Amino acid sequence: MDLKQYVTTVENWPKEGISFKDITTIMDNGPAYKYATDEIVAYAKERGAEIIVGPEARGFIIGCPVAYALEIGFAPVRKPGKLPREVISADYGLEYGTDTLTMHKDAIKPGQKVLICDDLLATGGTVEATVRLIEQLGGEVVGAAFIIELVDLNGRDKIKNVDIKTLIQY
Ligand code: PRP
Repeated sequence: MDLKQYVTTVENWPKEGISFKDITTIMDNGPAYKYATDEIVAYAKERGAEIIVGPEARGFIIGCPVAYALEIGFAPVRKPGKLPREVISADYGLEYGTDTLTMHKDAIKPGQKVLICDDLLATGGTVEATVRLIEQLGGEVVGAAFIIELVDLNGRDKIKNVDIKTLIQY
């Protein structure tokens, strides 16, 4: 399937000059959403994933059906103040300032093989912070899967030691 035809490009959103890649037109199409999920499920099997980790919010949409299909768990990465129990945090740089991501301290078991799922690899800041969280908990990141990669932003360079799978490149 040519998945790219189901992505909608929205010009000048959320800001002037940004060409936004909208994946909701993959998700609201049953066969396209299933195809994207199945591709990542096959990759997760190949990498021997034992648990899926996804950053909020769109990482949940991609990661949860993969976890369900594999009958393995899903652990969320969330912005501060959202998770109810003890968390660990990782900061990452934005164009202006920094942001923080958190995970529950017991979300990953030491030695567990983890696959990260998200909709988009842009600058790589989100996934790089996610890798740090997982490794701090003793998990082994066996791969990172994304629907879309914005190649010119060189997000891959931030996680050089992680195997990466992307379904669509721009
Ligand atoms: C978007 C996207 C990725 C991240 C990619 O999430 O869903 O998680 O940005 O960008 P990066 O590679 O430059 O870090 P966003 O922070 O907008 O959160 P949302 O999914 O909750 O909208």
